[in-house]
Amino acid sequence: MSAKTIVVGNFKGGVGKTKVAVMASWELSHEMNKKVLLIDMDPQANATTLIARSSGITEIPSSIFEGFEKGDLSDIVMSVNDNLDLIPAAVSFKNLPKFLYGRFKEDLDQVSYLNKLLEPLKDKYDYIFIDVPPTISDYSDNAMMAADYVLIILQAQELSLEGAETYISYLQFMIDEYDAYIQVAGVLPVLLRPGGRVDHATVERAKELFGDDNVFENYVKHLERLKAWDITGITYKDHHDKKAHQLFQDVVAEMLEKIEHFEGGEPASD
Ligand SMILES: Nc1ncnc2c1ncn2[C@@H]1O[C@H](COP(=O)(O)OP(=O)(O)O)[C@@H](O)[C@H]1O
Ligand SMILES: [Mg+2]
Repeated sequence: MSAKTIVVGNFKGGVGKTKVAVMASWELSHEMNKKVLLIDMDPQANATTLIARSSGITEIPSSIFEGFEKGDLSDIVMSVNDNLDLIPAAVSFKNLPKFLYGRFKEDLDQVSYLNKLLEPLKDKYDYIFIDVPPTISDYSDNAMMAADYVLIILQAQELSLEGAETYISYLQFMIDEYDAYIQVAGVLPVLLRPGGRVDHATVERAKELFGDDNVFENYVKHLERLKAWDITGITYKDHHDKKAHQLFQDVVAEMLEKIEHFEGGEPASD
């Protein structure tokens, strides 16, 4: 097998990217029996913290920046359980831009380094998820070059499509500039404000812009439990937990359908 690599994208902070990347990895590995690698590329390490808290990991011996320096990520991979591995981040990863400019002269080499480091790992997994910081930066460039698909977060309560639109135009730039080979797996509406309603006009505009089929039918609802898991770790104790897990299982199932549709629809010869 060769893993399908998916980056969760939107150039804004606090829109639910990390939660989606972690929960999609979690449900695929725990509930759907897939081999998954989650890569934390954010020096703030929110995904690493959430996974550690959820699975009793108390020590992170080494993190992604050491793997980048060494030119080999295999020693950095941590086993979370039988099906889920994590490449953890730490604040040291803030030095990525400096490191890349020191190591590589060519732009293309700078943005392609993660892709190169992932190549030997891809055989071990069904899916690889990448969580990135919310900036147009060496982090997002490397993620885009390494990914087969992007799952774009749409802020479904906002009156503008700004976050998602900026992402798409930047994606086009990366395709033109560096021949990035990446497809949109779908646009996932996320509701981050409590009690807020979906702005249907925004979702309709997203459908016009991205195509009807590309916008998810499932929404990530605002659930207090999803927020609480930041403190408690991911749990399975009551019906609130069950609801939160079910939500992401539905989202992941729809994502897999969309990806399958793309792959099935492609001509055999490329
Ligand atoms: N569906 C949700 N319902 C409630 N709170 C959420 C939901 N998704 C994310 N959050 C919370 O919102 C905050 C930002 O989410 P996060 O995933 O870290 O966003 P990003 O990675 O885009 O910055 C976090 O405190 C997180 O727990
Ligand atoms: Mg984040």
